[in-house]
Amino acid sequence: MIQFDREHQVFKIDTKNTSYVMGVVSGRYLAHIYYGKYIESTDLGYVLDLDSSSLQDAVFNEGEKVTLLDRLPFEYSFAGTGDFRQSCLAVTSSAGQQGVELVYDSYEIFKGKPGLDGLPATFGDNAETLEVTLRDEVLNIRVVLSYSVFADSDALMRSCRVFNDSTEDVYLDCALSACLELGGGEYQTVALHGSWARERHMERLPVGFGTYLVESRRGISSHQSHPFLALVSPDCTQEHGEAYAMNFVYSGNFFASARKDQFEGHRMVMGIHPDGFRWKLAAGDVFQAPEVVMVYSDAGLDRMTHIFHDLYRNHLIRQRWVYQKRPVLINNWEATYFDFDARKLLSIAKEAAGHGIEMLVMDDGWFGRRDRDDSSLGDWTVNEEKLGCSLKSLVEQVNALGLKFGIWLEPEMISPDSSLYREHPDWALQIQGREGGQARNQYVLDFSRPEALGYICQSVFQVLKSANIEYVKWDMNRPLTDAASTYLPKEQQGEVFHRHVLALYAFQERLLEEFPDLLLENCASGGARFDPGMLYYSPQIWCSDDTDAIERLKIQEGTALIYPLSAIGAHVSDCPNHIVGRNTPFATRSAVAMAGTFGYELDITKISEKEKGQIASQVKTYQENIDLIQQGDYYRIASYQRNNLYDCYEIVSKDQTKAVVVFVQVLAEANMHNRLIRLRGLKPEAVYQAGGNCYRGDALMQAGLPLKRLRGDFQAEVISLVERK
Ligand code: DGJ
Repeated sequence: MIQFDREHQVFKIDTKNTSYVMGVVSGRYLAHIYYGKYIESTDLGYVLDLDSSSLQDAVFNEGEKVTLLDRLPFEYSFAGTGDFRQSCLAVTSSAGQQGVELVYDSYEIFKGKPGLDGLPATFGDNAETLEVTLRDEVLNIRVVLSYSVFADSDALMRSCRVFNDSTEDVYLDCALSACLELGGGEYQTVALHGSWARERHMERLPVGFGTYLVESRRGISSHQSHPFLALVSPDCTQEHGEAYAMNFVYSGNFFASARKDQFEGHRMVMGIHPDGFRWKLAAGDVFQAPEVVMVYSDAGLDRMTHIFHDLYRNHLIRQRWVYQKRPVLINNWEATYFDFDARKLLSIAKEAAGHGIEMLVMDDGWFGRRDRDDSSLGDWTVNEEKLGCSLKSLVEQVNALGLKFGIWLEPEMISPDSSLYREHPDWALQIQGREGGQARNQYVLDFSRPEALGYICQSVFQVLKSANIEYVKWDMNRPLTDAASTYLPKEQQGEVFHRHVLALYAFQERLLEEFPDLLLENCASGGARFDPGMLYYSPQIWCSDDTDAIERLKIQEGTALIYPLSAIGAHVSDCPNHIVGRNTPFATRSAVAMAGTFGYELDITKISEKEKGQIASQVKTYQENIDLIQQGDYYRIASYQRNNLYDCYEIVSKDQTKAVVVFVQVLAEANMHNRLIRLRGLKPEAVYQAGGNCYRGDALMQAGLPLKRLRGDFQAEVISLVERK
């Protein structure tokens, strides 16, 4: 419910368990008052403590305006006029001057949640929205802050639009999406960091007076950093304590920061990175900033995770696929790399079909003259000479074996060695007079140029129409550099990064309009663009190029902190693992891939008969657990990342009648008792059967589930629990 208490000039947004409160100070500024556990009262203006000696003068005395701006907890901060903390909005006027002052203008509360023009965003029924309008009277710009909630979720969705109501063009130097002011107290940051093949490792640090910054300037959300930031109470565990989290529904450069101020308040912000961003807001134009999802939990990280998972499953991922059983696939990348033809692919498909695998995915190397990673991106024509047949014929033969067919694409790129580049060198992003920097031997296409975007769309669609292709893996293998365009005028060069993301979204939207049943999996050199923006288009995203089961424990823990397991691309691959060289049992690889979209990525014709013999039952176990994996509540029981010994997670059905526990012993220890693993989320009074034994829920949650010590490193166990009626 959303309300405005006119008497106290307070806005209050309630979800079932939370309240978010802001108020108008002196009829002029919009200040943040409270975010946290549900509060009944709207009489909360006192929290701002305006009568205290430090603020009193400032509020009522124009001579202390800067003093006020320097200390008020703003709902949306602005630069250049007295708030010296992190700003959300920075504008350069037509006179080249910087400075904004946003004052309260009006509000509207309505049913529903409008879409965000050109951007992915949460959607769904039973929503309510508050829009608060702020104005800069000198620049004549208007900022509309938007807050939405869904009846079935404790998340709060925020975004904003900036309107230029003047007759002069202005430039947005910074237009972040959300700001959250938390008062005094101690907080720690929880963020996800990494590198290629090492994505989304969790890091936790105390917040101090220096700025804690999470950012990407790579044009993608990136391997290195993640558009997520949480401030948690120092006592926050999986089950207890407070967490305030922000997650950005955006796939390009981002900026999220937190710091303590001089009064020990904390400001956390999130939005498009101001570096590499300068948006010309012409007279009469509007700029839409992307959505930030905010989650508050007073029951630790598990609760935060559940709110994100449910929100993304019910209000972000397209419903066509979210709860649909996805085909168990086999991908040829780690099996063959670029060295394949139709005969090789068909031999994989044939063997796979015999073991219950349901789809073959042909990865990189089927087009142009691409036998290595140094050519042909942009030339989306099938290399029939290499394949030995047409795509249509290959797909028909795969379908005849009872398998669906999927294909790999990398539409945002252009190889210097391609017909497309030779014909249109100006279609690559480039800085005048400077040789473009290549990464993986490729340039990025300038998607702000309509004919480049149109041409690639058309050639990709042509391929997809030429055969019965039911799945696309959309890859993206380098960061954006030389982010300048030969198409855009000079005053719009600061728009290239954001325009690339907008064009990518428009492209994927068109793709799904054209092929509504297509199963799309996004990917970016592994998991460099695993973010809510991409999830809006694809129900699953390739999580990491590191398929080693042990490395994956850390990567998948960080990913599942926010994203539902049904979104996490995970495959069983061959050993020694191609990235780290580690040998792990086939069963462990399967147990770990089960906490995701489950598939295979190996040459099934070459693995041992013993391993082949396990595939059908692995697929069966996955399918038996699919409802839990796609719909259940995920609990992090133990973290190898933190204890260096073992990992354990549990998935419980919403009705608490079923659960599955995955336990991975990374390192064996000598001379120890068996383990007792305390489960969570069960009905205390119910009796659950686990293997041949029965336990009451309260015993499993308090005393624990007994697990026999496994022999050897890298061993896994999957335990199913079913309520006995
Ligand atoms: C990076 C992806 O993450 C891999 O799975 C594979 O598709 C390669 N690109 C192909 O170039």
